[in-house]
This record gives sequence, C-alpha cells and structure tokens, in this order.
Amino acid sequence: MSFRSTFLLKIVCCFTAATVSGVFGQQDIRATLYEQFGNSGMSVSIDGYVPDLSTLGFADRARSACTVGMWIFYAMPNYGYGSYHVVATYSDSPFCFDFDIVAADVSSVRYVGSGAGLSVQTFTLYEQTYFARNEEYITSEKPALNLANVHGSIILTGGGNWTVFEGTSYSGPSACLASTGTGVVVIADIRTVGLEHNSLRSVRIGCETNPKTVVHLQSSMTGHRSFSP
Ligand SMILES: *[C@@H]1O[C@H](CO)[C@@H](O)[C@H](O)[C@H]1NC(C)=O
Repeated sequence: MSFRSTFLLKIVCCFTAATVSGVFGQQDIRATLYEQFGNSGMSVSIDGYVPDLSTLGFADRARSACTVGMWIFYAMPNYGYGSYHVVATYSDSPFCFDFDIVAADVSSVRYVGSGAGLSVQTFTLYEQTYFARNEEYITSEKPALNLANVHGSIILTGGGNWTVFEGTSYSGPSACLASTGTGVVVIADIRTVGLEHNSLRSVRIGCETNPKTVVHLQSSMTGHRSFSP
C-alpha cells in the first residue's frame, strides 16, 4: 500500500449538504459521497484513501458523489480484489454525478495522482487490470519496480512522456508512452497498448530521442468512466 494512504482522513459532514459549490477549495482533492441520487441525503466527505467504507458507516450506501481530482470507486473493499465494478472520474474542478454500476455498492475509494492537480506528471501502476489491488506511485523514476511481477493497469496524470523497460535500471526492451497534453490517460488493461502483464521492471519520465516503440496516447482533463470487467 502506498505511503499516501496515511493521509489524514477527515469526516467533514455526516448530514445533508445543501450546497455543493463552495464546499471545495480549488485543487483540494476531495470526494463527497451521498446516499441518494442527485447529491442528496446523508453524505460523507473524504480526502484520502478509504480501503473499507464500512469504517465510516458508508459501505454500499453511496448513490451519487461530487469530486475534485481523480478518484476511483470500487464495489469491493480494499480496492477491488475479487469480482468488481469500478468507476473512475477526474476533473480539477468540482464534478457531481450519479453512480450507475456501483450505485449502493461502493465499498472502497482512493484517489489518483498528485494532490496538486491533474496536470502534475505522475505514473501509477496497479497490480491488476482495472486499477485493482496494490499500486505503485511514481513521480520521476523507479529503477526497480515493487510491482515488477504483478501489474495489469496504468494511470498517468499530467500527460507527457514516460519510458517503460522490461529490465531493471532502465535496461532491456523499452517502450515510449507518449501522451498529448497535460491531462489524464487511463489504461485499464496494459495489453491494449501492447504491453504484456507483469512484463515491466523499471520506469522513468521522458522518452529517448528516437524510441523504437512509441505508444501514442490521448490525455484529457475531465472524464468519467464505468468499468465492469
Ligand atoms: C514525447 O515523445 C515523442 C516521441 O519520441 C516526441 O516526439 C515528443 O516530442 C515527446 N514530447 C515531450 C514533451 O517530450
């Protein structure tokens, strides 16, 4: 588990939040979960990782949410181990929505990327496809990945370029992940961009001048997607 999970967890309010705008400070990552559709009813606000919403009395209760930053909502505790549905949403300004596949089924929640906003360049590797289980958060380079033998998905924030290598210390076959702009790139299964599961050993920011393999990716500053593997 990432060191970021030690971020302070705050329960901001537990009853009806009538106003949505104004609750959020600019760039403060936050998710408020509401018991009813349309951002009404009982709510709970979080600004960090929650591996089990039952600890806040909110397991399987959320039907809608308002978020700032990038957040992933899982139907299973501990970020989707086992069978799961996943909703990923990202925006640097407040974004409110109703859940579809995980309505009244959200059990764990975590954010993605830097607390300083979605245009900060970060690389997060996940143990399984669809951002499930453990993660590894990289802001510049990692010569020996902790998740070297177990990974299936990647999320980039801040767009830009990254090189992934099959060997440790930036050795072996490599690929340049070249993304446009400064937004988010969601790769729910790395096979879709030509990378084998569990094949990477090191990662660093930027690409070589003439990389042999280039994967072109589109980044965007806002998005909302439901995944039902
Ligand atoms: C990213 O890599 C591509 C492919 O090598 C290159 O054309 C582009 O200039 C790079 N962009 C940045 C911001 O380094």
